[in-house]
Amino acid sequence: MTRKRVGILISGRGSNMSALVESSRVADYPAEIVIVISNEPDAGGLTFAASHGIPTAVVNHRNYSSRETFGEAIEAELFTAGVEIVCLAGFMRLLATPFVERWRGRMLNIHPSLLPAYKGLNTHARALADGVKTHGCTVHFVAPELDSGPIIVQAEVPVLPGDDEKSLAARVLKEEHRIYPEALRLVAEGRAKFA
Ligand code: GRF
Repeated sequence: MTRKRVGILISGRGSNMSALVESSRVADYPAEIVIVISNEPDAGGLTFAASHGIPTAVVNHRNYSSRETFGEAIEAELFTAGVEIVCLAGFMRLLATPFVERWRGRMLNIHPSLLPAYKGLNTHARALADGVKTHGCTVHFVAPELDSGPIIVQAEVPVLPGDDEKSLAARVLKEEHRIYPEALRLVAEGRAKFA
């Protein structure tokens, strides 16, 4: 089995990235994580990746004058590492449309809501404010428009009486860590495609 070479983009603690790294260590997993790139020099996830022997790179968006040149610097890292699939995992910068188009069908994102509901930020607070009974998370192929693109896997969680943002986020996060490796497996095996 040739394993697909995966690059992960993060901005923060990187718990989804960690879940992907852990899953990729299982013998029959069809993907390996070959680089973790952060736009934030202090991202906690960089420490986890390095301590697991995964090459890391920082591409600080503040050092680039445009979204395009920032993206080109990220792509240079991806190409050097021979990346075939990109996973956005708590990556908090928008990527330019040409970048997204080049990686069409080969770039995934995880979002903490049942898309198309609650695109954007503060998803848990908005779900609570609306009084929804069911919330969840989504792994999807990335398309140029924010938090859009074909859905690969979703997981639902109940919103329970007494939930606050923190308790709901924790319940959703547990599912994120389960479905992201599942979705990456489907893409790496060619069983999920951007039509
Ligand atoms: C996750 O909830 C993810 O869905 C969202 O940002 C958060 C990142 O968490 N896009 P982590 O960095 O993976 O721990």
